[in-house]
Amino acid sequence: MYIADDKRYEAMQYRRSGRSGLKLPAVSLGLWQNFGGVNNFENSRAMLRRAFDLGITHFDLANNYGPPYGSAEETFGQILKKDFLPYRDELIISTKAGWDMWPGPYGDLGSRKYMLASLDQSLNRMGLEYVDIFYHHRPDPETPMEESMGALDTAVRSGRALYAGISAYNAKQTAEALKILRDLGTPCLIHQPKYSMFVRDPEQGLLDVLEKEGVGAIVFSPLAQGLLSDRYLLGIPSDSRAARDFFLKKKDIGEATLAKVRALNEVALQRGQTLAKMAVAWVLRDPRVTSALVGTSKVSQVNDNVSALKNPKFSADELRQVDDILAGKHLA
Ligand SMILES: NC(=O)c1ccc[n+]([C@@H]2O[C@H](COP(=O)([O-])OP(=O)(O)OC[C@H]3O[C@@H](n4cnc5c(N)ncnc54)[C@H](OP(=O)(O)O)[C@@H]3O)[C@@H](O)[C@H]2O)c1
Repeated sequence: MYIADDKRYEAMQYRRSGRSGLKLPAVSLGLWQNFGGVNNFENSRAMLRRAFDLGITHFDLANNYGPPYGSAEETFGQILKKDFLPYRDELIISTKAGWDMWPGPYGDLGSRKYMLASLDQSLNRMGLEYVDIFYHHRPDPETPMEESMGALDTAVRSGRALYAGISAYNAKQTAEALKILRDLGTPCLIHQPKYSMFVRDPEQGLLDVLEKEGVGAIVFSPLAQGLLSDRYLLGIPSDSRAARDFFLKKKDIGEATLAKVRALNEVALQRGQTLAKMAVAWVLRDPRVTSALVGTSKVSQVNDNVSALKNPKFSADELRQVDDILAGKHLA
């Protein structure tokens, strides 16, 4: 029987999501990869236990995480039942709908029909009465935004979700969605954009909109799917995401990228950190970022990513070195 560590709230930091009442752990764990039906159940379980023992109170899912689709929610539901039910009120569990999930016109994108049916299916797979956050996973250019936001509002008003969120909306779409949600009386809690040293788009306006509107930001893939670590410095390990050559492609690990990774690794070592830890600390240097949403394939990575919080501060010189490396100046 699992009993959570008594000291689980001692080291983790909790950051407020925008101007809401909800705080999230500075490091959250996503179940996109490594928690599906194809993965080792006991390894998935060990990572979730370790995460909670380290104060990670937030687990992020989506309808189609797996593979196969839906299986990460099923795995999570089984682990919840075995280990975490006594701790349900200490957990923030999120899910999403917006990408392809089932065949036909009602299993994708942003209709009310799809989003609410999907949420019911997610609750069923996880054995939950409600999720804490329900997201629209991506904007749907063909559905009026009022309809997708209306589905989030219904999810909250019907008690299936406590808060509403959006993901992958750009700054302009975000401003529009936030207004619709506010007018409906269900303010948006949080946005989930992709953000890392390698993907800095949210700096071009999105984070400003979120700050102005008092909405949190939980940033996904802060390690650029593992590229921002020492994992690929000596080639592509057989147990790595890149070895599967699907979401992280082998062709994306070319010499120009590796040269930047090596240079960033030097900066991290000067700071007394691994590059993975520096990647987590780097996204959290911005106070507008509520949480770094990491993925892991082993318990040691959970430990590593949380220990990034021991060295969170960057000097102006370190930040400049990072910017120069990303701009390719170190090669000049
Ligand atoms: N909203 C969206 O559209 C969207 C899209 C993508 C992801 N997400 C969310 O964001 C979460 C995180 O995404 P992600 O998995 O791409 O994040 P990530 O943290 O950038 O990458 C995770 C991968 O990095 C490697 N890694 C992690 N910690 C490490 C460490 N300490 N040292 C060395 N390598 C390490 C592991 O790769 P190996 O597996 O090779 O060991 C791990 O699977 C997802 O689970 C999901 O919840 C959301």
